Amino acid sequence: MADKAKVAIFISGRGSNMAALLYAAKLAGAAYEVVLVAANDPHAEGLALAEAERVSTFALSHKGMQREEHDKAMDQAAHDAGAEFIVLAGYMRILTDGFVDRWAGRMLNIHPSLLPKYPGLDTHQRAIDAGDSHGGVSVHLVTSELDAGEVLGQVEVAIRPGETAASLADRVRFAEHQLYPHVLNEYLGRENDPTFLLEKVRELALALPQSHERESHGSPGWRAGSEKSGKYFAYFNDQHHGSDHIAVLVKTGSMDELLDLVEAQPQAYFKPAYYGASGWIGVILNRPGLDWEHVSDWLERSWRAVAPNSATKLIDAADQF
Ligand code: GAR
Repeated sequence: MADKAKVAIFISGRGSNMAALLYAAKLAGAAYEVVLVAANDPHAEGLALAEAERVSTFALSHKGMQREEHDKAMDQAAHDAGAEFIVLAGYMRILTDGFVDRWAGRMLNIHPSLLPKYPGLDTHQRAIDAGDSHGGVSVHLVTSELDAGEVLGQVEVAIRPGETAASLADRVRFAEHQLYPHVLNEYLGRENDPTFLLEKVRELALALPQSHERESHGSPGWRAGSEKSGKYFAYFNDQHHGSDHIAVLVKTGSMDELLDLVEAQPQAYFKPAYYGASGWIGVILNRPGLDWEHVSDWLERSWRAVAPNSATKLIDAADQF
């Protein structure tokens, strides 16, 4: 099995979600291990529990500190612990854009509402006041807009007659404890899931003008131009020829460029068997924090190298907007 993803959990208080994540990490098949529990309040209850469970902790009060400065210290603690992902579990601080950007695609949050409903605070009271039949909980990716990143999973929780915000919060918490470890495992697992990775590449490749899919030697491939005379610009490569990589093969400009990239960033690129000889590079997809924008740029570049002029003109025109 692949190495477990290393996760830092940020808390501000009780840490019941942290505890749920910590114990779920001990179950067979868990995709992550908790390398750090960090808090912006040295008295956060959850810290004592983490210590008792022999998980490293870090605490730094944000009081009297600039937001940037505090974020920087938290970031450093996460790095020092070897964290690859940050999981916010009741961390009641707004993070700076710089911090959020650095952890883009690698930071999750749990929020006690059915997003996009009720971002921010007082979620349970707002759901009750609105007469909603259900409250609930969402786990989402963190982006710079508050509680607005891609929702990865939700659980609905019925609102009963006479419900108070406190009684609803108590029940939502049960749902939270189920949802968070489940979604985190699934999210981490999808990095190594060939079906998920293929679907993402397919979506990006087929979004390019005049492209279509055609199998080549048993692997999915994408061609630019007509069905009849189109040329391949990408191949999906799932652990072929003894390699561990799940990758997309795209065209480089030259053998020098290919070899330079492989040498400088062996975690991101490799020279594939057979195809490498004609300048195709393997862009590795099954790795933590993969940047899909980067994959998309490679696909477009490779597509440009073979697409008919009529198609590249289309995309140039679109790029001007
Ligand atoms: C949880 O209910 C979580 O959804 C919420 O804080 C609580 C933390 O409880 N998070 C937010 O409101 C984020 N805006 P816990 O410390 O017991 O895990």
